[in-house]
Amino acid sequence: MQLRDSKFAEKLACCNRHWEAYKRFNPHGTRCPLVLEIGTGWHPIVPIGLYLCGADRIYTIDKNSLLRPETVEATLRLYQQFARHGKLKRILTDVRPDRVDKLIALQPTGTGRAALELLREFNIEPLIRDSGPLPLPSGSVQLLVSNNTLEEIPPEELRYLFVEFRRVCSRDGVMSHLVDMGDYYARIDPRISPYNYLKYSEKIWKYANNPIVQQNRLRVSDYRELHVAAGFQIVAERADRGSPSDLNAIRLAKEFARYAREDLEVLRASIVSVKSAWRSLLLMVVDELLPLFQDAFSLLGVGLQTFA
Ligand SMILES: C[S@@+](CC[C@H](N)C(=O)[O-])C[C@H]1O[C@@H](n2cnc3c(N)ncnc32)[C@H](O)[C@@H]1O
Repeated sequence: MQLRDSKFAEKLACCNRHWEAYKRFNPHGTRCPLVLEIGTGWHPIVPIGLYLCGADRIYTIDKNSLLRPETVEATLRLYQQFARHGKLKRILTDVRPDRVDKLIALQPTGTGRAALELLREFNIEPLIRDSGPLPLPSGSVQLLVSNNTLEEIPPEELRYLFVEFRRVCSRDGVMSHLVDMGDYYARIDPRISPYNYLKYSEKIWKYANNPIVQQNRLRVSDYRELHVAAGFQIVAERADRGSPSDLNAIRLAKEFARYAREDLEVLRASIVSVKSAWRSLLLMVVDELLPLFQDAFSLLGVGLQTFA
């Protein structure tokens, strides 16, 4: 899995966007005790970048174990190269000089030194999780991020994951997601546009979807709805649209007929949110207090029956 300079620079820019969002919406400025990234991938560019900007500790979760000593080393080598040529600071504007010095001092090992050991130098801990609760305490995370990952998670699982995001997010936490809503097949087939997969019914898509890297085909309005339903308030959004003529060339499957044109046109979105205080309170009442009341009433019911 080769890492090219252009790809590396692109991911650095994503990292910068997350950090800028954190600085803007977190009331405590640049202090960031804990970050959680979903979807590590092969190259830990974003976790290392967030460490260089000042995050104290970074957990990065993936359902697949893709990090290898060579992919971590390739990432570190590019970081060192960019730092030495002054390119790092131009893209990731907030890097801390002491941490960059530490990065430059790391020796490229070439000796098969474990990837985990290299990442530990930067307080980065990769975790593997397929489903179920996030392995973090409630209210512990200040910054939650993802890049090109949410679109690969099935809608029901995503709904659950967002509820987990709310649980682990601290009261002043910030969440920043970059989502790709284009058909991945268009990256390898120049004959089709990124809107191509919108022509398939759900039934057909089940078979046409890549069995290894699945795409959920959710649109930006669905992602907004997921945020709000889980108790987050969207505070910034940037949407990149494709060519309207490419979209017009697609005969939409009936599943997509209900979406507005401007919704369907969005191919990439950056969504930044914070915990919505009122909605969180409401959801806490529904999730936690309601079952307690129900238990109390059912106990009362049992008691009444016993006395009858
Ligand atoms: C397209 S890659 C992006 C990797 C990296 N974030 C980047 O931008 O280069 C998507 C990653 O998300 C991971 N992924 C997919 N579904 C996931 C899930 N439910 N939980 C955690 N990771 C998931 C995949 O294994 C893959 O590594």
